[in-house]
Amino acid sequence: MRIASTADIHFSPQSYDHIREPLSHVRDEADVLIIAGDLTNYGKPEEMESLLNGLVRLRIPIVAVLGNHDYESGHQDDLIRMMTAEGIKVLDGTGYERDGVGFAGTKGFLGGFGRGVLTSFGEPQIKVFVQAALDETMKLERALMQLRSEKRVVVLHYAPVVDTVRGEPEQIFPYLGSSRFSEVVDRHGAKFIVHGHAHHGALEGRTTAGIPVHNVSLSLLMAQQPPCVYRVFDV
Ligand SMILES: [Fe+2]
Ligand SMILES: [Fe+2]
Repeated sequence: MRIASTADIHFSPQSYDHIREPLSHVRDEADVLIIAGDLTNYGKPEEMESLLNGLVRLRIPIVAVLGNHDYESGHQDDLIRMMTAEGIKVLDGTGYERDGVGFAGTKGFLGGFGRGVLTSFGEPQIKVFVQAALDETMKLERALMQLRSEKRVVVLHYAPVVDTVRGEPEQIFPYLGSSRFSEVVDRHGAKFIVHGHAHHGALEGRTTAGIPVHNVSLSLLMAQQPPCVYRVFDV
């Protein structure tokens, strides 16, 4: 299976005009398209409606997770309903199998990497924050456990390793993701992980167990030579 992957579309009519033509070829190059979050800029149903108009024309099965921007207006449940109604498989702590390949996905969360991971200590606000990260790791675990297929692909919005955020200002690394998620994937196994969110990070990384991690954030892909709007991976 050939899997095209992108993230961080941050839909606006102007920005979508830049990617409409190159994205229209995705069906010739891949069997499935993954969109790893931040489909909209402000999480507004109007943005999603316009984006879906474009996405349905691609005539390719789409698997997606939401990103933090898709939560901005508090309409995330509406967005998921709209996407689902158009046949998009939205993963939110769920697994999906297609042609022998399993997709496990959830948004993920921030909180830092390695020794820098924020832990649950002190003020109740810190504990609430850390609990939100733990809840997301449990959702990812549940998604992976739902899959029966040997070939699995993990879809996150936030970065699960520090490698793929390098290139961003070091001060904001802890806001770009958390290695709690790569630990979960290492326990369950996967062919690779795709994520977005780190718009100016690095393309490639690996988990501690050596699982490839691909940052497919659109702005990062557009900054490549030659620019592209998705990457294609074989499983
Ligand atoms: Fe983004
Ligand atoms: Fe984001």
